[in-house]
Amino acid sequence: MARIIGGITTSHVPAIGRAIAKGLQQDPYWKPFFDAYAPVRQWLGEVKPDVAIVLYNDHGLNFFLDKMPTFAVGAAPEYRNADEGWGIPTLPAFQGDPALSWHLIEQLTGEEFDLTTCQEMKVDHAFTLPMALLWPDQKWPVRVVPVCINTVQAPLPSAARCLKLGQALERAVASWPGDERVLVLGTGGLSHQLDGERAGFINKDFDLRFMDSLVDSPAWATQYNTHQLVELAGTQGVELLMWLATRGALGSQVQELHRNYHIPISNTASGLMLLEPVA
Ligand code: DHB
Ligand code: FE
Repeated sequence: MARIIGGITTSHVPAIGRAIAKGLQQDPYWKPFFDAYAPVRQWLGEVKPDVAIVLYNDHGLNFFLDKMPTFAVGAAPEYRNADEGWGIPTLPAFQGDPALSWHLIEQLTGEEFDLTTCQEMKVDHAFTLPMALLWPDQKWPVRVVPVCINTVQAPLPSAARCLKLGQALERAVASWPGDERVLVLGTGGLSHQLDGERAGFINKDFDLRFMDSLVDSPAWATQYNTHQLVELAGTQGVELLMWLATRGALGSQVQELHRNYHIPISNTASGLMLLEPVA
């Protein structure tokens, strides 16, 4: 039986891609951000996952506003990114796992999640940059299953729905007969707003409370509807939905192995957590 061995949640700001391309990891602005990933990389070297389920939101590279699935799951043999206009170099292709993808799709659909299935899917910075932070040599040692959650165009799925999606993913992985060790990687957030009157908005108190809640009261954020989450975390801070889905996949109890919170990276309060399920 396949097993989820841990969850990593991280921000996914495009400027990270330019910093990587320019080798700015030791630059004073970037050092506290990049250094925080070292313990996570060490953990990955020890636990050696075979597959990563990557929960992220596309920002217009694969899905545009004319066609916007709430939940989309990749079932392609390979995933590539493309120029999004942020000055991020294109990264090496990611190997998919179509058999596992279709199993997850069947199980989630069986649990009444209505999915868009993607046999071709470009993956944007929200997918590629967290992968490059975890594996800087960009020789990806895992096969990937992208799971895209709409956080860019109303109506968004609720926090409760995203938590349930993660819980269903855990059951779906557990019912796969292979012996894969599965990492769940959730990207986005934390608080930020890129446009409008509140551009630059960051809410440190809320972010820290939210990170705490993922450890011992994962349903805490489900008290808020989408409008309240936007008010509390910013229009793009609502990407924290990916953190909730990731937490949902880790079972009833988790151990927090690592955390970082750093303001700002570009316009974003950048966060990182490493959580391990307690058997
Ligand atoms: C920024 C943050 C994001 O999450 C994103 O998708 C794009 C830009 C930023 O802070 O610059
Ligand atoms: Fe984003």
